[in-house]
Amino acid sequence: MVSNHLNLVRAPKRQIDKSVHAFFSAFSPNAAGELTESFRFILFSEPLPQSNNITTTRAAAATTTQTMSLSSVAASASVTATSPISFNRKWILKRRPVGVFDPNLDAELVVIDKPQNKDEHAATNPTNEQLEIEDHQVVVEPQLLSVDAFLRTMYDEHAYHGSLPLGATLPAMGYGRVVQAGPKSGHSVGTIVAGMLQAADKAVVDGKGLMRSFRFPFLDRSACLGLLGLTTGLTAYTGVFYVPSKAPRKGETVVVTGAAGAVGSIAVQLCKSTGARVVGVAGGPRKGEYLMGLGCDAVIDYKDKAKPLESQIAETCPSGIDFVYDNVGGETLDLLLGKINPNGRVVICGAISQYSGNLNSKTNKVLGPSNYLKLAERGAEMRGFNVIQHIAKLPFMLVGMFYLWARGKVKMTEHIETGLEQFPYALQKLFTGETIGKTLVRINRDDHE
Ligand SMILES: NC(=O)c1ccc[n+]([C@@H]2O[C@H](COP(=O)([O-])OP(=O)(O)OC[C@H]3O[C@@H](n4cnc5c(N)ncnc54)[C@H](OP(=O)(O)O)[C@@H]3O)[C@@H](O)[C@H]2O)c1
Repeated sequence: MVSNHLNLVRAPKRQIDKSVHAFFSAFSPNAAGELTESFRFILFSEPLPQSNNITTTRAAAATTTQTMSLSSVAASASVTATSPISFNRKWILKRRPVGVFDPNLDAELVVIDKPQNKDEHAATNPTNEQLEIEDHQVVVEPQLLSVDAFLRTMYDEHAYHGSLPLGATLPAMGYGRVVQAGPKSGHSVGTIVAGMLQAADKAVVDGKGLMRSFRFPFLDRSACLGLLGLTTGLTAYTGVFYVPSKAPRKGETVVVTGAAGAVGSIAVQLCKSTGARVVGVAGGPRKGEYLMGLGCDAVIDYKDKAKPLESQIAETCPSGIDFVYDNVGGETLDLLLGKINPNGRVVICGAISQYSGNLNSKTNKVLGPSNYLKLAERGAEMRGFNVIQHIAKLPFMLVGMFYLWARGKVKMTEHIETGLEQFPYALQKLFTGETIGKTLVRINRDDHE
């Protein structure tokens, strides 16, 4: 089993409870306890409160919705059960990537049960794929998968997020419907769950690592992976507002790298919302145009061979740089450090330029910033983070982000590929820079609980 640092269940539950409680206390001290329990229901699928006051009425309503949805799910499940055209394909890691991830060499789509026709399927698989699972496991049919840069690092032998064994199914964050549930999984058939799934028609995963998928008002469910997704919008929110000693402010110059990507495009808008002047770094004129449309004051095309990166930085940041939100590392970070202002803040969110070289092995060297002494010279700070380290602030992040979205300050651009077969190619596109905004892969259409 692959360990990963994005498993909410391994996050400190008590800490989350405490901060959720503090949050609700500010609004409604009398109902804070039960509101917290309801929130726990959303996060950990724990039972809803049973008392008789207003909150319980709401909780009861939620249960009703759930029950109603389960009956509609039961109906759709029976449709699936009699519909034999349901393959079980999965993408496995065939070989450890050598440098840049190549889906044709490094991954393989394995078809476990491919019927030639309806009758053959019915004959060979009459129960329609009741898989053998352990008591704590569930089988989930993914609906939408999130394509995240960190997944590439899991294909290496030494990996911070857990190394994927050769032959294992490619993991991916996402949501989908539970179609089979072990008695100790904590989930029931028909529920829509979110968490670390797999690039497969049917993902077999530990129920403890999944939470009930929550649909935010007025937003498509895809928002739980993008705008309000832990590894996307909420990562940007954390990096801008919680990680540095001071968030950007009016009059300051901010540079965001990987600016046209999922995390970067949200970071750009959040920094813009503070009144700061924002410069976005991305590859190619198409991304430059997109960033200007998003509100950037200037853009840097790090792929422009005619204009050295250093001169573009000097041109777009004439008064130096006060805040860096870095997603790419390497040479770009180094050059930005050279222009950091006194009391500047540098937030290390990621370093995608270094992810194609087995970055956690002892023999490979990550290209680090040789300009780091500028931090000392100018009294600047550099601080890295993993969003899980800030999970206790989850309710604040959600509410803060939702509020900014509702005020029109932030929006998410989604790039959605269709079909399981596209998954590793979509991941490859993060490294060739072909996609803008949040990259997702639609496996099955969303349905409603
Ligand atoms: N700290 C955390 O908790 C946390 C959580 C989630 C994600 N992250 C980090 O956030 C960053 C963005 O991740 P994401 O999933 O949102 O991906 P993304 O930004 O949607 O896609 C990656 C982007 O990186 C750019 N890129 C690729 N190779 C590059 C290179 N060699 N040099 C410069 N830019 C390159 C590409 O755009 P161009 O066309 O501009 O090259 C691409 O669009 C990653 O570093 C990831 O590890 C951190």
